[in-house]
Amino acid sequence: MNSMGEHEALVRKCRDRITRDLKPRRVIHTECVVAEAVALAKKHGADVQKAEIAAWLHDIARNLPQEEMNRYVKELDLGVRYLDNKNLAHSKVGAAIIKNELGITDPEILYAVSYHTTGREGMTLLDKIIFLADAMEPNRNYPGVERLRELVREDLDKACAYSLRRTKDYVESKGEYLDPDTLNALEYCEREIRKNERKPD
Ligand SMILES: [Fe+2]
Ligand SMILES: [Fe+2]
Repeated sequence: MNSMGEHEALVRKCRDRITRDLKPRRVIHTECVVAEAVALAKKHGADVQKAEIAAWLHDIARNLPQEEMNRYVKELDLGVRYLDNKNLAHSKVGAAIIKNELGITDPEILYAVSYHTTGREGMTLLDKIIFLADAMEPNRNYPGVERLRELVREDLDKACAYSLRRTKDYVESKGEYLDPDTLNALEYCEREIRKNERKPD
């Protein structure tokens, strides 16, 4: 854990970078994700500092011009499915920028950013917190978001599974490509829910 002074300095650095790189609406979204992530981390005993930093930085690459995003996708060898797909690519490219340009190497922070759009098999508590904070912050307004907020209060795995299933159904109904990480994350969260239901109180 960083000292309070070091942490505050890092938060300032992240905030400056985000304010510089993101559109004003996206900065407001980010501030709200930070507030949600910090609250969830406190409630569930996750590392609050890491949650704060990951939340500040999760969309760092969101407003890169498409050309630049594609350049990163090729440079990082992410695979063709990330080309011309900002929605998927910004998480992976963001994690690379955080590591290479901001010098943040903490794998938990990098994973949480890298998988905030899709989730993943074996999602950590921090992964779940960033994924959910992003999906439920107060500016989010889509069918099902109220149910998601209810589930977040109840159980994080149930909330993740609900959100992932919604994505899966939506993507499939549009005949679009479903990222395998989304499916793996959904199956993982469903297994976790069953496991917790079997545990005696
Ligand atoms: Fe994002
Ligand atoms: Fe976001």
